Amino acid sequence: MTTPRILIFDSGMGGLTVARAVRTQLPAAHLIFAADNAAFPYGAWGEEELVKRIVRVMGELLERTAPDIVVVACNTASTLALAALREAYKVPFVGTVPAIKPAAAQTKSGVIGVLATPGTASREYTHALIHTYAYHCKVFLHGAKRLAEIAEQKLKGHAPNPEELKAEIAPVFRKRDGQQTDVVVLGCTHYPLLIEDIRKVAPWEVTYIDPAPAIARRAADVLDETPLKGPADGAPPPNSVILTSARGGASESLGAYSAMGFPTAEFLEVPR
Ligand code: DGL
Repeated sequence: MTTPRILIFDSGMGGLTVARAVRTQLPAAHLIFAADNAAFPYGAWGEEELVKRIVRVMGELLERTAPDIVVVACNTASTLALAALREAYKVPFVGTVPAIKPAAAQTKSGVIGVLATPGTASREYTHALIHTYAYHCKVFLHGAKRLAEIAEQKLKGHAPNPEELKAEIAPVFRKRDGQQTDVVVLGCTHYPLLIEDIRKVAPWEVTYIDPAPAIARRAADVLDETPLKGPADGAPPPNSVILTSARGGASESLGAYSAMGFPTAEFLEVPR
C-alpha cells in the first residue's frame, strides 16, 4: 500500500498542535514538519514581504519533500498567502483560519474572543470571517504580541510568567450589556500549547476552540481525493522536521520536536 506523505508547515512549533491531530486522524501517513524558524514570528511581518517569503520557502520545501498534500498549520500564513500558494504550486493545500464560524455557533452569551497574532488580527480575511459568520455577535479580536513566543519558550523548557500571560489574554475577556465572553477562538496554532497555563490565569471559564481536529479531518478528505505519488511498497521513513535555520535556539527545540513525534531533523537554510 502506498504511504501518503504530508508536509505540515508553520513558522515555528505551533503547527505541532495540528500535527498531533493529523497523526491521530491519519496514523499511517508519513509526516514531515517544516518550521520557518529563520523568519519566526510571522505575526510581526509586513504583508507583502511575508507572502514573498512564504512562497519562496514553500518552493524549496516542495522540491525537497515532494508531498502529496500540504497542511499550512499557521493562521498568520493561511489568512494571507493561501491564494498565492495555490497559484504558484499544484499540490493541494489545506489551510488554517480562525474558527469564527464554530465560535458563533457555540456562544450563548453572544460575546466571543478571538486570540490571534497581530498579523492575523489585522487581515482583511479575518475581518471578513467575522462579518460573514459572527455579524450577530460582539467579537473582541486581539493581536497578542508575545503569546507565540511564550509558547515556543514553554516547549523549550521555560515556564510562562503568569502575569505576562494574563496581560496577553485580558483583551478577549470582556463584558458587554450584562453578558461576558463565553467562547475564545485560539486563532494561532501556538496557543493550544499554552491552554493549561491560560486556563489558570483567565478571569473566568470559557470554551476554547482549537481548530486542529477539524483541520486534520479536512486533510484526510483532501488526501482521499489526491492520487498518491510515492512507491506502492517499502516502509515509510520516520517522521521528520525541517528547520530553515540552525540558529536561535534551534537545537533547544529539537528535543521538543522529538518528544512530539518528529525524531529526525534536517536543516534547509533559507535566511530572511
Ligand atoms: N503559529 C502561527 C499561527 O497560527 C504563527 C505564529 C507566528 O509566527 O507569529 O498564526
